Amino acid sequence: MNEELKIAEPSGSEYVVKNRLQPADEVIHGWYRFVLGYPPHLVREYLKTLGADPTRDWVFDPFCGTATTPVEARLRGFSTLSTDANPISVLATKVKLSWDVNVDEIRSSLDDVLELAAACLRRVHLNPLAEVTRQLALFVPRAVKGEANDTGLTANTFDPNALLPPKMAALIPRGFISKKPLLRVLALRYAIERVVLRQTLRDFLALALANTIVTTAGNMGFGPEVYRLPPRDDADVLAAFAVTVSRMISDLETILTKQPPPSPPAHVFKDDARILSSLERRPSIGIVMTSPPYPNEKDYTRSTRLESVLLGLVKTKEELRTLKSSLLRSNTRNVFVGDDDDTSIKDIPSVVRVAEEIEERRRQLRKTSGFERLYHRVTRLYFGGMYRHFAVLLPRLRPGARCAYVVGDQMSFFRVHIKTAQLLADVAIKAGYEVEGIDLWRTRRSTTTRQDLEENVLILKRPDTTG
Ligand SMILES: C[S@@+](CC[C@H](N)C(=O)[O-])C[C@H]1O[C@@H](n2cnc3c(N)ncnc32)[C@H](O)[C@@H]1O
Repeated sequence: MNEELKIAEPSGSEYVVKNRLQPADEVIHGWYRFVLGYPPHLVREYLKTLGADPTRDWVFDPFCGTATTPVEARLRGFSTLSTDANPISVLATKVKLSWDVNVDEIRSSLDDVLELAAACLRRVHLNPLAEVTRQLALFVPRAVKGEANDTGLTANTFDPNALLPPKMAALIPRGFISKKPLLRVLALRYAIERVVLRQTLRDFLALALANTIVTTAGNMGFGPEVYRLPPRDDADVLAAFAVTVSRMISDLETILTKQPPPSPPAHVFKDDARILSSLERRPSIGIVMTSPPYPNEKDYTRSTRLESVLLGLVKTKEELRTLKSSLLRSNTRNVFVGDDDDTSIKDIPSVVRVAEEIEERRRQLRKTSGFERLYHRVTRLYFGGMYRHFAVLLPRLRPGARCAYVVGDQMSFFRVHIKTAQLLADVAIKAGYEVEGIDLWRTRRSTTTRQDLEENVLILKRPDTTG
């Protein structure tokens, strides 16, 4: 077990105030979230601090995750650009910014989807309403309870094994979902794909299903790494899905009442932040607000694995490998032979020093596992990857543009203190940025070392004078 798992989120007021989703912010943000995402109020605060102006600035989040930045910025009238390399993040961000979706069409599709999913479940001899809890049953249309007329939709070709062949199922960590909830999820996915033709509607329902998988169907907890909970025999997946879709529809109606269309433009791309080719021919960026990964042994592909596989976003080992290789090297499970992001930080003494200290500590401790041998290397690759990101971003920024990077210090590698924000400041200077400051956002206490680890906001500027 690595030591990151022993770093506790403070349970006291600081955590609540600083990082929790405030109840008023549930609208849209709550549709699907990462435990390591930052809260909307941080975005609000930094849009002000950075002097962002909606009449002038496009806001960009290169590591958009679950879209906290673009959603919050758009709610404040900003045009936005977003990228992420993980397809589940791209799906979440697209859906959270599709405010022109036809809600009446979603409502009628929902009834058809539930009806077909219910028929599929009966076909495999499972009652559409789970035994375990029926308190949500009020929300389920009559179709699910078997009271509706046959609409002509057929469940005959529902084949769980075709939707989730053994090779695909093998990508899901053992015990993350039990058999009955799994069948319910697959029936919903099948029904969405059969019934809904318009891609924006499909995506909307797919995100509702992703939410249902994480909150209701799966046996997972997050703290902050994903872990397995005691298995549940069954779960009211269809009802939870129906409630989620209804909530999403009502959120959209609330937003559009407050902020009638047209909404500011919002473009979302699947892209590697070290490349950013999707930004070619896009407007120049005035504000960047983001939280990249940091070297902490967290595997984003694992914490989003269940929903990514069940929605068919990752189908094979090869696809998983390609996905991992498009991410910043922030953990030893996504280091590959031939990686060379470290070439660009060889002349940054602070980064080289911390990597050498990690390797030195490993030798002293006589640690010899393959993962432990990679700790110093992943640190170099991480900061080198961030150099590449800063370098490709710079020409996309307007002169004077300002950026906020939220990053945490780490002690995951033999307790060597990686002061992420300070090191990234050195990397950014080499890439041509001015460093305006490092603010403390909050602290997390390591239960292993009893030391407070800082989470900081690094403020950068594209100099006014460069080309
Ligand atoms: C800390 S999360 C961002 C959380 C986000 N601020 C939120 O509130 O949900 C970091 C994100 O960076 C993405 N990521 C990692 N490496 C990337 C890369 N090379 N290019 C683009 N995205 C990447 C991960 O997929 C993950 O979604």
